[in-house]
Amino acid sequence: MKITKICCIGAGYVGGPTMAVIAQKCPHIQVTVVDLNEQRIADWNDPNPENIPIYEPGLSEIVSEARGRNLFFSTDVDKAIDEAQMIFISVNTPTKTYGKGKGMAADLKYIELCARQIAKVAKQNKIVVEKSTLPVRTAEAIKSILDNTGNGVQFQILSNPEFLAEGTAVTDLLNPDRILIGGDTTPEGEEAINALIEVYSNWVSKDRILTTNVWSSELSKLTANAFLAQRISSINAMSELCEKTGANVSEVAKAIGMDSRIGSKFLKASVGFGGSCFQKDILNLVYIAKSYGLSEVADYWEQVIIMNDHQKRRFSNKIVQTLYNTVADKKIAFLGWAFKKDTNDTRESAAIYVADDLINEQARISVYDPKVSQNKMLNDLDYLETRSKQDNANYLNVFDNAYEACKDAHAVAILTEWDEFATYDWKRIYDAMHKPAFIFDGRNILDAKQLEEIGFVYNGIGS
Ligand code: NAD
Ligand code: UGA
Repeated sequence: MKITKICCIGAGYVGGPTMAVIAQKCPHIQVTVVDLNEQRIADWNDPNPENIPIYEPGLSEIVSEARGRNLFFSTDVDKAIDEAQMIFISVNTPTKTYGKGKGMAADLKYIELCARQIAKVAKQNKIVVEKSTLPVRTAEAIKSILDNTGNGVQFQILSNPEFLAEGTAVTDLLNPDRILIGGDTTPEGEEAINALIEVYSNWVSKDRILTTNVWSSELSKLTANAFLAQRISSINAMSELCEKTGANVSEVAKAIGMDSRIGSKFLKASVGFGGSCFQKDILNLVYIAKSYGLSEVADYWEQVIIMNDHQKRRFSNKIVQTLYNTVADKKIAFLGWAFKKDTNDTRESAAIYVADDLINEQARISVYDPKVSQNKMLNDLDYLETRSKQDNANYLNVFDNAYEACKDAHAVAILTEWDEFATYDWKRIYDAMHKPAFIFDGRNILDAKQLEEIGFVYNGIGS
C-alpha cells in the first residue's frame, strides 16, 4: 500500500515532533496531527513558529518549513482518520491514578478511546500504528476493539515505539539509532510493515530499520527505558557510597565507562531522573511482571524507582543538614526546574520533589529556569496536593534571571543542567548571597574548584 495520507492522534511531545519530521522528509505525504486539546492545536498553528507549544532545539524551523505545505494541525479528528491510510496513535499513557493497578499500571483509557473512534469512523482498510509506549500485548486489545466495533473494514496493527529523548528530539528523529517495527507475519501484516518501512526509508537507511513480532516490539520499548533508567540509579547508588568513602563518582563513571562493554553514556550521577516516562514505564513493567506472578522480576526493577526516590530525598536532606539543620525562612535559589536541559517539560522533574521537601521545612524557594513559566511550576507543586495553592504561591517565587533569584539566598541548588549556568559570573552571585554561601550542584555541571576559590561551600553529587 502506498501511503499518501497520515493521521496522528495526539499532538504532544512525541506526536508533534515526530510528525513534523515525517512531513519534512516526506513532502509527498500529507500529515495531519489531531488532538482533542483545542489550545494545544491553536498553539501548533500559531503564525509565529517560535510559539509552538513544545520547545525543542531545531523544531520551530522544521514546523515552519512543512506547516501548511503537507503538515497540518487540527481538532477535526474524524476527518483526519477518515482520510488517512495510516493512523499513528500517540496519546498519553500515564500511570493509573484509580482502581486496579493504581499507581503502577498504564492507564489505557486514551488508547481505547482512539481505537473506538477509529473503528467508528473508518470506512476503508487502515494501518494503525502504536506510537505511544504500551504494555506488552496491548495490540491485542486494540485489534479486538477495531474488529468488533468497526464497519467491517480490515485493520493492521503495528507497534512502532518512539525512542526520542526530549531536548534532542529533532536530532534523534533525523538520525535514529534504529526504527523498530513490530507486526504480524501474515501477508497483510507484512504489507503493512513494508508500507511503514517505506515511509521511514525516505531518510533512514534500511539497515537501521528492525522488524520483530508485535509483542517483542512493545516489550522492547519498556525494556529500553528500564535499562537506561537502571544505569542512572546504579551510578546514583554509587554516588552515595562515593560521598562516604572519598571516591569521586565522576571519576568512577569515567573509569567504568571506558570499558567498551559498559560504555560511557547514561552514567551521569544526578539529583535523580525525571521525565514523563522512566518512572511510568518501569512501574508498568513491574505491574506486568507481578500480574504474571513474577515477583523477583518485579522487585528487581522496582528497586530502580526506589533508588531514584531515595536520591531526590537525599538531596533535599543534604541541603537541610548542611544549612545547620534548619532552612525555615531561608531563601534557597533553584537554578532549573525542567527535568533536563533544552526542554520546557517539567513532568516528574526532581526539582518539584526537592522544592516540596524544602517547603515542608518552611524554606522560601526562588526559581529561575530559562524555559519554564511560573504557572507551570506552581501547577507542578499544586498537583502534589501537599499544601494549599496559596501556600505554594507564598513559598515559591519565580524570577526571570538567575542573578535576581540568587540575591540574598543562603544556598543555590542546581536542578537542571542548562548550559548557561556554567557561564555565569559566579563572583557576582556570591557577593549578593548570605555567607557562608552554599552551592548544591545536583547535576555536577559547575567547576567546584573555581567556586571554592570564590568562597562558596560547594557540594556536588557523589564527591
Ligand atoms: P503528551 O501528553 O505530551 O501528548 C499526548 C496528547 O494526546 C495530548 O495533547 C492529549 O490531549 C492527546 N490526546 C489524548 N487522548 C486523545 C484522544 N482520544 N484524541 C485526540 N487526542 C488525544 O504525551 P507525550 O509525551 O507525547 O507521550 C505520548 C506517548 O509517547 C506516551 O505513551 C509516552 O510514553 C510515549 N513516549 C514519550 C516520549 C517523550 O519523550 N515524551 C518518548 C517516547 C515515547
Ligand atoms: C527517555 C529515553 O532516553 C528515550 O529514549 C525515551 O524515548 C524516552 O525516555 C521516553 O520513552 O519518554 P527522556 O526522558 O526524554 O528520554 O530524557 P533522558 O535523556 O533519557 O533523561 C531522563 C532523565 O534522566 C533526565 O532527568 C536526565 O537528567 C536524567 N539523566 C540522564 C541522568 O540523571 N543521568 C544521565 O546520565 C542521563
